[in-house]
Amino acid sequence: MQSSSTRHRLEAVNHDHETIPERLAVVTGGNRGIGLEVCRQLALQGVTVILTARDEKRGKDAVESLCHESNLSNIIFHQLDILDGNSRASLARYINSRFGKLDILLSGKAVNLIQSVIVQTYDEAVKCLNTNYYGLKWITEALLPLLKQSPSGARIVNTTSLRSELKVQILSIKKKRYFCASTSLPNNMIVPVPNLPQRMPNEKLRDELRNIDIWDEARIEAMLNEFLLDLKNERLEEAGWPTMLPAYSMSKTVVNLYTRILAKRHPEMRINCVHPGFVNTEINWNTGIIPPEEGARGAVKASLLLQDGPTGCYFDQTELGEAW
Ligand SMILES: NC(=O)c1ccc[n+]([C@@H]2O[C@H](COP(=O)([O-])OP(=O)(O)OC[C@H]3O[C@@H](n4cnc5c(N)ncnc54)[C@H](OP(=O)(O)O)[C@@H]3O)[C@@H](O)[C@H]2O)c1
Repeated sequence: MQSSSTRHRLEAVNHDHETIPERLAVVTGGNRGIGLEVCRQLALQGVTVILTARDEKRGKDAVESLCHESNLSNIIFHQLDILDGNSRASLARYINSRFGKLDILLSGKAVNLIQSVIVQTYDEAVKCLNTNYYGLKWITEALLPLLKQSPSGARIVNTTSLRSELKVQILSIKKKRYFCASTSLPNNMIVPVPNLPQRMPNEKLRDELRNIDIWDEARIEAMLNEFLLDLKNERLEEAGWPTMLPAYSMSKTVVNLYTRILAKRHPEMRINCVHPGFVNTEINWNTGIIPPEEGARGAVKASLLLQDGPTGCYFDQTELGEAW
């Protein structure tokens, strides 16, 4: 008798005969880092995965090595640059004509602007917000009509970051690991860290960000424009915006907001955001403390949630967390 994962793989092999896989996922930026590992783990779970990358050769090489190393046949490549409208439309047309539906969308790309920790040029900040937030929003909008066709209620997983968390005064020991590799404190201990600055120092905005009922895409855009103007006029600190990784932090804060807006709007889907942990990838020059295999687990778990699972939530790796 076939295991269910073998059955899914065989269904995927039969695409040429128009067999529709039970679960079909799109992963953006799947050619390296956490995205690549998410593709592997989902495919091993029997999900048919469309690994996308903006560079065709890098994407095809990634599919070939995944299929070869992990003996998989249910990973397909399609080009996708989330910032290119034609590329987004081409992916949507391909999925529509070949499958007519999409069950899982995992996105959350990153431009490597983390080196600009405190000082960031206006152009760098615009690029960061475009890729990390607007690109994610645009690809979600392009694929939403197909996600609505998922018979089991689609899953959307947006990659966020610890940098998006509005709370910072209390760090659990797990987070303390990021700053101090070894500790003798017990695992479940909550550690108050005195005098740690708020990530979002503007208290009024912090309170507003907690109230999802007052946000929509237009208000997010207005806030980002105000942020960019203050950055241009060197007023970030004065206006109470994040001063560490300012554009990156803002991009992830609004990814969280957008996730919650979508979750409210589409109660039939499970839509969540996931902080992967401090993962060893190129984004941090391979200084992360957990391997991509571990960093991918939260996104994979959120992709495979049951229909009565949480929605509009923030996962800190594989556990439900509080970011707002
Ligand atoms: N690593 C960490 O510690 C960490 C912590 C918190 C959050 N995250 C988040 O996790 C996500 C994945 O990060 P990672 O660590 O895996 O980074 P990574 O190894 O640097 O990978 C980034 C991926 O994004 C792709 N990308 C960039 N711009 C794109 C565009 N316009 N269209 C399509 N793809 C694009 C890159 O493609 P190319 O190869 O073509 O450049 C690459 O595949 C990001 O959202 C990041 O913010 C990571």
